[in-house]
Amino acid sequence: MTAQASHLIAPHGGELVDLSVSTERAAELKNHSREWPSWDLSPRQICDLELLLSGGFSPLHGFMTRPDYDGVCRNMKLASGVLWPMPITLDVTEQFAKSLKPGTSKVALRDPEGVMLAVLHVEDVWQPDRQAEAKAVFNTTSDAHPGVDYLINKANPWYIGGKIEGLQAPSHYDFKNLRLTPAELRNEFARLGWRRVVAFQTRNPMHRAHQELTFRAAKTVEANLLIHPSVGMTKPGDVDYFTRVRCYQLLMSKYPQGTVKLSLLPLAMRMGGPREAIWHALIRKNHGVTHFIVGRDHAGPGSDRNGKPFYGPYEAQELFKKHEADIGVTMVPFNMMVYLEDQNKYVPDNEVPSGARVLNISGTELRQRLNEGREIPGWFTYPEVVHELRRSYPPRHQQGVTIFFTGLSGSGKSTIANVLLTKFLEVGGRPVTILDGDLVRKHLSSELGFSKEHRDINIRRIGYVASEITKNGGIAICAPIAPYDSVRKQVRHMIEPYGGFILVHIATPVETCEQRDRKGLYAKARAGIIKEFTGISDPYEAPADAEVTIDTAELTAEEAAQEIILHLEREGFIGVAGASA
Ligand code: PPS
Repeated sequence: MTAQASHLIAPHGGELVDLSVSTERAAELKNHSREWPSWDLSPRQICDLELLLSGGFSPLHGFMTRPDYDGVCRNMKLASGVLWPMPITLDVTEQFAKSLKPGTSKVALRDPEGVMLAVLHVEDVWQPDRQAEAKAVFNTTSDAHPGVDYLINKANPWYIGGKIEGLQAPSHYDFKNLRLTPAELRNEFARLGWRRVVAFQTRNPMHRAHQELTFRAAKTVEANLLIHPSVGMTKPGDVDYFTRVRCYQLLMSKYPQGTVKLSLLPLAMRMGGPREAIWHALIRKNHGVTHFIVGRDHAGPGSDRNGKPFYGPYEAQELFKKHEADIGVTMVPFNMMVYLEDQNKYVPDNEVPSGARVLNISGTELRQRLNEGREIPGWFTYPEVVHELRRSYPPRHQQGVTIFFTGLSGSGKSTIANVLLTKFLEVGGRPVTILDGDLVRKHLSSELGFSKEHRDINIRRIGYVASEITKNGGIAICAPIAPYDSVRKQVRHMIEPYGGFILVHIATPVETCEQRDRKGLYAKARAGIIKEFTGISDPYEAPADAEVTIDTAELTAEEAAQEIILHLEREGFIGVAGASA
């Protein structure tokens, strides 16, 4: 049975777009592609391309041309007049853009392995006003907004637009049977006789409140339920989608049998709040969905640097309501669900009886409880979900950690690092690796000198290795000079998503280091034999963000190592689950 015959909702713009070409055409395009320039797609561009190819972005037939882009920014309308709230653009470098001729150039769009996924017939090439785009689409130019940050700081400054012919969809090797395209989901709904389907978008693990909300939504509008999480790119810092999908799968058994379906959407979210809510609904409409849940702060980007939320909690619902007829999908608005302790049930926060005791656990609080190995109550989430979360987010004393020393040559870094190493080996439980300045220079960075550029490369290499160790639950003890603040911060950002990062400043004054001069290097530096010597003829930027500061003029190496151990214990990186500080 075709989707039309089964009376499913029509796709946005009337037709479900399918940009994939026949095998013969694909072979022909591949042949010609030798003469065309190639563009290696970024992770976000791959997500967008996947939804363009499969018709998830119907009625779009390619990356937007200038008239479509201008209309979308101005009043959420494509040049054809059809509602569309989010620019879908292909950003490229200026050099690449300038090598193209609108109207004649074709570009081979490739994945990171170089596989050609599609051809773009270049119609437009232009340099957008990205500040104006940010203001129009996100209603702010602050790069504290993740969508703006991407647009201004990460995306390339030129756009190219035009129709696409698809050779193959981006490859995925995970959760294959859960990645249904719009056509596949439509066929599935037709097969099951699901004409009314309410979709739930999420980028977070689902707990009891979400289960209750989605269950109520389906009951209220008498529809079947589609759990349709975004697994493309979500907000930086979110729970990884592998963990989330395992949690969603566990949750499926909590709904009445045969009423709910789980499918994954390869969407790169923009965290665009109100506009994004409309966009999400149009994408779901293309997947055969008739109703869409819009909760509190839908696709919310958080707050600006003054702590003010970028959007009001129900702004997405308001904008949706205004355009509901053009969207063609019925909104199912929901307030935040909270737990009524006395009645042992969840209700929307606008239905709480006066004086009732309400419980809630925020995302931050949940993360803290996981970190500290503290109890996560059954009223909040299902034990199976807690178990799954704990596997991915073990308590701190089981997480990896990097102890990153910084300090002048001869300050005592290596000695303290070695004492620390033996202390960790004594405790046991986690593998420990030392990345000492001298040893790294011998094994990883032997070609590097001591210019700022080379020192930064050296520190980034150490950071990379330490982040891999941390990610895999080990302890990395790094002991380079690391004289520059900005690269130390880069390393912190590389590591913190995977575990602990403890910056230890060995603040031994340069006079003391020079007096000791254990390797005779200070004498050589003074004599001009060694150039660019830190503290003598090269700068050292003392950190203002060190977790631990140690002056070895006052402490022995053993005492210094003890200070660091105490800090790690205080932060929960050493110890037992649930132990208080
Ligand atoms: S950096 O800045 O972090 O990349 O330096 P690092 O890799 O830790 O290397 C420092 C060790 O190299 C020796 N050495 C010098 N240090 C500083 N400046 C100059 N010009 C220099 N030339 C050689 C020195 O022995 C350092 O080792 P430590 O253990 O710090 O004394």
